[in-house]
Amino acid sequence: MDCRLDGQVAIVTGGSSGLGYACSEQLAAAGAAVVVNYHSHPEPAEDLAASINDKGGRAIAVGGDVSKEADVAELFGETLGAFGAVDILVANSGMQKDAALTEMTLDQWEAVLSVNLTGQFLCAQAAVRQFERQGRRDVSRALGKIICMSSVHQVIPWAGHVNYAASKGGIMMMMQTIAQEVAGKGIRVNSIAPGAIRTAINETETEGEKGEQLLKLIPYGRIGVAEDVGKAAVWLASDQSDYVVGTTIFVDGGMTLYPAFRGNG
Ligand code: BGC
Repeated sequence: MDCRLDGQVAIVTGGSSGLGYACSEQLAAAGAAVVVNYHSHPEPAEDLAASINDKGGRAIAVGGDVSKEADVAELFGETLGAFGAVDILVANSGMQKDAALTEMTLDQWEAVLSVNLTGQFLCAQAAVRQFERQGRRDVSRALGKIICMSSVHQVIPWAGHVNYAASKGGIMMMMQTIAQEVAGKGIRVNSIAPGAIRTAINETETEGEKGEQLLKLIPYGRIGVAEDVGKAAVWLASDQSDYVVGTTIFVDGGMTLYPAFRGNG
Protein backbone atom coordinates (compact mmCIF):
# COMPACT_ATOMS: atom_id res chain seq x y z
CA MET A 1 0.00 0.00 0.00
CA ASP A 2 1.42 3.33 -1.07
CA CYS A 3 0.62 6.11 1.39
CA ARG A 4 2.86 8.74 -0.22
CA LEU A 5 2.10 12.44 0.20
CA ASP A 6 4.78 13.88 -2.09
CA GLY A 7 4.17 17.45 -3.21
CA GLN A 8 1.51 18.01 -0.55
CA VAL A 9 1.53 20.54 2.27
CA ALA A 10 0.25 19.67 5.75
CA ILE A 11 -0.48 21.87 8.74
CA VAL A 12 -0.38 20.05 12.09
CA THR A 13 -1.69 22.11 14.98
CA GLY A 14 -0.10 21.34 18.32
CA GLY A 15 2.57 19.64 16.26
CA SER A 16 5.45 19.98 18.66
CA SER A 17 4.50 17.32 21.22
CA GLY A 18 2.63 14.07 21.71
CA LEU A 19 0.26 13.00 18.96
CA GLY A 20 0.92 16.11 16.87
CA TYR A 21 4.66 15.45 16.96
CA ALA A 22 4.18 11.91 15.66
CA CYS A 23 1.75 13.12 12.97
CA SER A 24 4.24 15.79 11.85
CA GLU A 25 7.11 13.29 11.71
CA GLN A 26 5.17 10.68 9.80
CA LEU A 27 3.50 13.05 7.33
CA ALA A 28 6.99 14.37 6.57
CA ALA A 29 8.37 10.84 6.19
CA ALA A 30 5.56 10.19 3.68
CA GLY A 31 6.76 13.17 1.63
CA ALA A 32 4.58 16.08 2.76
CA ALA A 33 5.97 19.52 3.58
CA VAL A 34 4.90 20.08 7.19
CA VAL A 35 4.01 23.20 9.14
CA VAL A 36 4.53 22.36 12.79
CA ASN A 37 2.28 24.67 14.75
CA TYR A 38 3.00 25.24 18.44
CA HIS A 39 1.39 27.35 21.12
CA SER A 40 3.91 28.31 23.77
CA HIS A 41 7.19 26.43 23.33
CA PRO A 42 8.99 27.20 20.06
CA GLU A 43 12.10 25.05 20.71
CA PRO A 44 10.60 21.56 20.31
CA ALA A 45 8.72 22.66 17.16
CA GLU A 46 11.84 24.28 15.71
CA ASP A 47 13.94 21.22 16.58
CA LEU A 48 11.40 18.94 14.91
CA ALA A 49 11.30 21.13 11.78
CA ALA A 50 15.11 21.14 11.71
CA SER A 51 15.31 17.37 12.00
CA ILE A 52 12.76 16.95 9.17
CA ASN A 53 14.81 19.34 7.00
CA ASP A 54 18.04 17.50 7.91
CA LYS A 55 16.50 14.27 6.65
CA GLY A 56 15.75 15.90 3.29
CA GLY A 57 12.14 16.83 4.05
CA ARG A 58 10.56 20.27 4.23
CA ALA A 59 9.20 21.79 7.43
CA ILE A 60 8.78 25.04 9.30
CA ALA A 61 7.61 25.83 12.83
CA VAL A 62 4.88 28.45 13.26
CA GLY A 63 3.54 29.72 16.59
CA GLY A 64 -0.08 30.56 17.21
CA ASP A 65 -3.09 29.96 19.43
CA VAL A 66 -5.69 28.00 17.44
CA SER A 67 -8.53 29.47 19.48
CA LYS A 68 -7.70 32.96 18.12
CA GLU A 69 -8.97 33.79 14.64
CA ALA A 70 -6.08 36.16 13.92
CA ASP A 71 -3.49 33.53 14.89
CA VAL A 72 -5.16 30.96 12.64
CA ALA A 73 -5.12 33.45 9.74
CA GLU A 74 -1.43 34.01 10.36
CA LEU A 75 -0.73 30.27 10.52
CA PHE A 76 -2.31 29.78 7.10
CA GLY A 77 -0.62 32.93 5.76
CA GLU A 78 2.83 31.72 6.83
CA THR A 79 2.11 28.30 5.35
CA LEU A 80 1.24 29.84 1.99
CA GLY A 81 4.31 32.08 2.20
CA ALA A 82 6.60 29.11 2.77
CA PHE A 83 4.99 26.36 0.67
CA GLY A 84 2.35 28.03 -1.54
CA ALA A 85 -0.62 25.77 -0.72
CA VAL A 86 -2.37 23.70 1.93
CA ASP A 87 -3.56 20.15 1.16
CA ILE A 88 -3.87 18.56 4.59
CA LEU A 89 -4.94 19.90 7.98
CA VAL A 90 -4.43 17.82 11.10
CA ALA A 91 -6.49 19.74 13.68
CA ASN A 92 -4.78 18.23 16.69
CA SER A 93 -4.25 20.90 19.36
CA GLY A 94 -5.91 19.85 22.55
CA MET A 95 -5.64 20.02 26.30
CA GLN A 96 -7.10 18.63 29.51
CA LYS A 97 -7.95 20.64 32.62
CA ASP A 98 -9.50 18.02 34.82
CA ALA A 99 -11.78 18.65 37.79
CA ALA A 100 -14.89 17.20 39.35
CA LEU A 101 -18.03 18.91 38.09
CA THR A 102 -18.61 20.77 41.35
CA GLU A 103 -15.00 21.97 41.46
CA MET A 104 -14.59 22.96 37.82
CA THR A 105 -14.14 26.66 37.22
CA LEU A 106 -15.64 28.46 34.26
CA ASP A 107 -12.07 29.20 33.17
CA GLN A 108 -11.27 25.47 33.06
CA TRP A 109 -14.44 24.77 31.08
CA GLU A 110 -13.84 27.61 28.61
CA ALA A 111 -10.12 26.98 28.15
CA VAL A 112 -10.69 23.38 27.08
CA LEU A 113 -13.69 24.16 24.86
CA SER A 114 -11.92 27.03 23.13
CA VAL A 115 -8.78 25.11 22.25
CA ASN A 116 -10.24 21.64 21.63
CA LEU A 117 -13.45 22.60 19.84
CA THR A 118 -13.35 26.25 18.71
CA GLY A 119 -9.72 25.78 17.65
CA GLN A 120 -10.66 22.91 15.36
CA PHE A 121 -13.63 24.88 14.00
CA LEU A 122 -11.45 27.91 13.14
CA CYS A 123 -8.75 25.78 11.52
CA ALA A 124 -11.24 23.69 9.53
CA GLN A 125 -12.96 26.86 8.32
CA ALA A 126 -9.65 28.39 7.22
CA ALA A 127 -8.62 25.12 5.53
CA VAL A 128 -11.85 24.78 3.53
CA ARG A 129 -11.60 28.43 2.43
CA GLN A 130 -8.01 27.81 1.29
CA PHE A 131 -8.81 24.53 -0.50
CA GLU A 132 -11.52 26.34 -2.49
CA ARG A 133 -9.31 29.35 -3.21
CA GLN A 134 -6.39 27.30 -4.53
CA GLY A 135 -8.56 24.83 -6.49
CA ARG A 136 -7.51 21.43 -7.78
CA ARG A 137 -3.85 20.48 -7.55
CA ASP A 138 -2.56 17.33 -9.15
CA VAL A 139 -1.06 16.01 -5.92
CA SER A 140 -4.16 14.23 -4.59
CA ARG A 141 -7.57 13.02 -5.72
CA ALA A 142 -9.30 15.17 -3.10
CA LEU A 143 -9.44 18.97 -3.16
CA GLY A 144 -8.23 18.82 0.44
CA LYS A 145 -8.23 16.67 3.55
CA ILE A 146 -9.01 17.54 7.15
CA ILE A 147 -8.26 15.21 10.04
CA CYS A 148 -9.76 16.14 13.40
CA MET A 149 -8.10 14.73 16.50
CA SER A 150 -10.91 13.43 18.65
CA SER A 151 -10.79 10.81 21.42
CA VAL A 152 -12.55 7.68 22.59
CA HIS A 153 -14.29 10.22 24.83
CA GLN A 154 -16.39 11.35 21.90
CA VAL A 155 -18.47 8.30 22.87
CA ILE A 156 -17.25 7.18 26.32
CA PRO A 157 -18.49 9.45 29.13
CA TRP A 158 -15.63 10.43 31.47
CA ALA A 159 -16.37 11.44 35.06
CA GLY A 160 -14.11 14.24 36.26
CA HIS A 161 -13.44 15.43 32.71
CA VAL A 162 -16.73 17.02 31.65
CA ASN A 163 -15.04 19.83 29.72
CA TYR A 164 -12.82 17.42 27.77
CA ALA A 165 -15.56 14.87 27.04
CA ALA A 166 -17.94 17.64 25.93
CA SER A 167 -15.27 19.03 23.60
CA LYS A 168 -14.65 15.62 22.03
CA GLY A 169 -18.37 14.83 21.69
CA GLY A 170 -18.63 18.22 20.00
CA ILE A 171 -15.80 17.35 17.63
CA MET A 172 -17.67 14.24 16.51
CA MET A 173 -20.76 16.15 15.42
CA MET A 174 -18.73 19.09 14.10
CA MET A 175 -16.61 16.77 11.96
CA GLN A 176 -19.64 14.92 10.57
CA THR A 177 -21.48 18.15 9.82
CA ILE A 178 -18.51 19.74 8.06
CA ALA A 179 -17.88 16.50 6.17
CA GLN A 180 -21.49 16.43 4.97
CA GLU A 181 -21.27 20.11 4.00
CA VAL A 182 -18.04 19.98 2.00
CA ALA A 183 -17.86 16.43 0.59
CA GLY A 184 -19.51 17.62 -2.62
CA LYS A 185 -16.61 20.01 -3.16
CA GLY A 186 -14.18 17.08 -3.03
CA ILE A 187 -12.99 17.72 0.52
CA ARG A 188 -12.63 14.75 2.86
CA VAL A 189 -13.10 15.37 6.57
CA ASN A 190 -12.52 12.56 9.07
CA SER A 191 -11.46 12.06 12.68
CA ILE A 192 -9.03 9.92 14.58
CA ALA A 193 -10.22 8.89 18.04
CA PRO A 194 -7.20 7.77 20.06
CA GLY A 195 -7.63 5.78 23.23
CA ALA A 196 -4.92 5.62 25.87
CA ILE A 197 -1.75 6.70 24.10
CA ARG A 198 1.31 7.41 26.24
CA THR A 199 2.03 11.17 25.90
CA ALA A 200 2.63 14.10 28.24
CA ILE A 201 -1.15 14.64 28.60
CA ASN A 202 -1.58 11.38 30.57
CA GLU A 203 1.92 10.58 31.87
CA THR A 204 0.76 9.85 35.42
CA GLU A 205 -2.20 7.70 34.28
CA THR A 206 -0.11 5.44 32.04
CA GLU A 207 2.70 4.53 34.48
CA GLY A 208 2.92 2.14 37.46
CA GLU A 209 -0.20 1.02 39.32
CA LYS A 210 -2.43 3.42 37.38
CA GLY A 211 -1.02 2.08 34.13
CA GLU A 212 -1.97 -1.46 35.25
CA GLN A 213 -5.54 -0.32 35.95
CA LEU A 214 -5.66 1.40 32.57
CA LEU A 215 -4.57 -1.79 30.81
CA LYS A 216 -7.75 -3.48 32.09
CA LEU A 217 -9.66 -1.09 29.82
CA ILE A 218 -7.65 -2.08 26.73
CA PRO A 219 -8.54 -5.49 25.27
CA TYR A 220 -5.44 -5.49 23.04
CA GLY A 221 -3.24 -5.39 26.15
CA ARG A 222 -0.93 -2.49 25.50
CA ILE A 223 -0.95 1.26 25.94
CA GLY A 224 -0.65 2.98 22.58
CA VAL A 225 2.28 4.97 21.28
CA ALA A 226 2.00 8.22 19.36
CA GLU A 227 3.19 6.50 16.15
CA ASP A 228 -0.01 4.41 16.18
CA VAL A 229 -1.89 7.66 15.64
CA GLY A 230 0.65 9.15 13.21
CA LYS A 231 0.25 6.14 10.92
CA ALA A 232 -3.53 6.51 10.88
CA ALA A 233 -3.11 10.20 10.03
CA VAL A 234 -0.87 9.38 7.05
CA TRP A 235 -3.40 6.86 5.75
CA LEU A 236 -6.34 9.26 6.19
CA ALA A 237 -4.39 12.01 4.42
CA SER A 238 -3.41 9.77 1.51
CA ASP A 239 -5.35 8.70 -1.57
CA GLN A 240 -5.44 5.18 -0.09
CA SER A 241 -8.41 6.39 1.95
CA ASP A 242 -9.99 8.41 -0.88
CA TYR A 243 -13.46 6.93 -0.32
CA VAL A 244 -13.34 7.48 3.46
CA VAL A 245 -15.50 10.50 4.23
CA GLY A 246 -16.95 11.70 7.52
CA THR A 247 -15.87 8.77 9.62
CA THR A 248 -13.94 8.27 12.84
CA ILE A 249 -11.05 5.83 12.98
CA PHE A 250 -10.69 4.54 16.54
CA VAL A 251 -7.04 3.91 17.39
CA ASP A 252 -7.65 2.54 20.85
CA GLY A 253 -6.60 -1.11 21.23
CA GLY A 254 -10.30 -1.93 21.55
CA MET A 255 -11.10 0.45 24.42
CA THR A 256 -14.47 1.28 22.86
CA LEU A 257 -15.38 -2.43 23.05
CA TYR A 258 -16.13 -1.79 26.75
CA PRO A 259 -14.10 -4.76 28.10
CA ALA A 260 -15.58 -4.30 31.60
CA PHE A 261 -18.60 -6.11 30.15
CA ARG A 262 -16.61 -9.32 29.58
CA GLY A 263 -18.37 -11.84 31.86
CA ASN A 264 -20.37 -8.99 33.34
CA GLY A 265 -23.57 -7.07 32.73
C1 BGC B 1 -7.06 11.33 26.90
C2 BGC B 1 -6.13 10.49 27.74
C3 BGC B 1 -6.81 9.22 28.19
C4 BGC B 1 -7.48 8.52 27.03
C5 BGC B 1 -8.28 7.30 27.46
C6 BGC B 1 -7.61 10.50 25.79
O1 BGC B 1 -8.42 11.26 24.97
O2 BGC B 1 -6.36 12.48 26.40
O3 BGC B 1 -5.69 11.25 28.85
O4 BGC B 1 -5.87 8.36 28.79
O5 BGC B 1 -8.32 9.41 26.33
O6 BGC B 1 -9.12 7.58 28.55
